[in-house]
Amino acid sequence: MSQILEILGSKYPIIQGPIGELNDPKMVAAVSEAGGFGMLALGFVQNLDKVKQLIAGVKELTDKPFGANLMIAMNPHNEAILEILAEAGIKTVTTSAGAPKKIYPKIKELGLKGLHVILAAPLALKAVEAGADGVVVSGAESGGLRTTGPESSNMILIPLVCDLVDIPVAAAGGVADRRGFRAALALGAQGVQIGTAFLATEESPAPQEWKQAIIDCTDAGTVLLPRLGIAMRTLINDEMRQMMASGLDLSKEYKAGDASKTWGGGQISALIKKIRPVKEIIEEMVS
Ligand SMILES: Cc1cc2nc3c(=O)[nH]c(=O)nc-3n(C[C@H](O)[C@H](O)[C@H](O)COP(=O)(O)O)c2cc1C
Repeated sequence: MSQILEILGSKYPIIQGPIGELNDPKMVAAVSEAGGFGMLALGFVQNLDKVKQLIAGVKELTDKPFGANLMIAMNPHNEAILEILAEAGIKTVTTSAGAPKKIYPKIKELGLKGLHVILAAPLALKAVEAGADGVVVSGAESGGLRTTGPESSNMILIPLVCDLVDIPVAAAGGVADRRGFRAALALGAQGVQIGTAFLATEESPAPQEWKQAIIDCTDAGTVLLPRLGIAMRTLINDEMRQMMASGLDLSKEYKAGDASKTWGGGQISALIKKIRPVKEIIEEMVS
């Protein structure tokens, strides 16, 4: 068994990528029941009763392992949330958006395992130093929050990180099918984290318009827009296309906050052609 499967406890090394505050126990359970590692997105959830309800909701639907994502700099209640997770028998979390040294002492104290999300190779060393059990390497093609500076894609980042550290690596970004899954493993990753492809599933709680925007997205169909003081990979819509054709600078037009009128998604959206059940995607991926 690979190290990452030991950490996750799932059948396949396929992690559900957390999406902001989008949580539905049915979706998490669907990923875990299909052999993946379902994940609650607790990055912004501050209400501890809500955390307990979400965990209970997933446990009603599956006895397979699932985890939770904590965003280090975004949530002042992370330590209390970790205690609730440990108490509920959750064994593995992912951490993102902040310095790992702030949270790994608590993760270790509670006997949990943690995978830390990084967007650049040198940060893998910081994750090791902090005591992370693995890293989720999120390349420039990924959906979600990105830096505003230059970034590398996973084709470069995964081998770089694999050469740099001995802890297991999961690739986040650019994977929606068997080809992407195998490519990630060929680059040295032991598993993948899937954001956009799971957003566009039958079980996903995302609004229909969001799912459709992913299906409609084509090659070169995403752009980085300002969000939360950094940048968010966003699906280009008709309004943006018109603005670009008129020579307007999108990052000035969509100042922080305005981007809430848009849908997020990774470059992989171009390869996602229909809304499918989670199980079908996972089974095709590992076939
Ligand atoms: C709209 C959107 C919101 C996201 N929100 C989070 C988040 O709250 N926390 C986090 O760690 N990652 C977040 N991500 C990143 C995903 O969990 C995942 O790593 C990424 O989408 C992988 O790339 P892919 O979209 O190509 O599959 C988000 C991604 C998207 C598309």
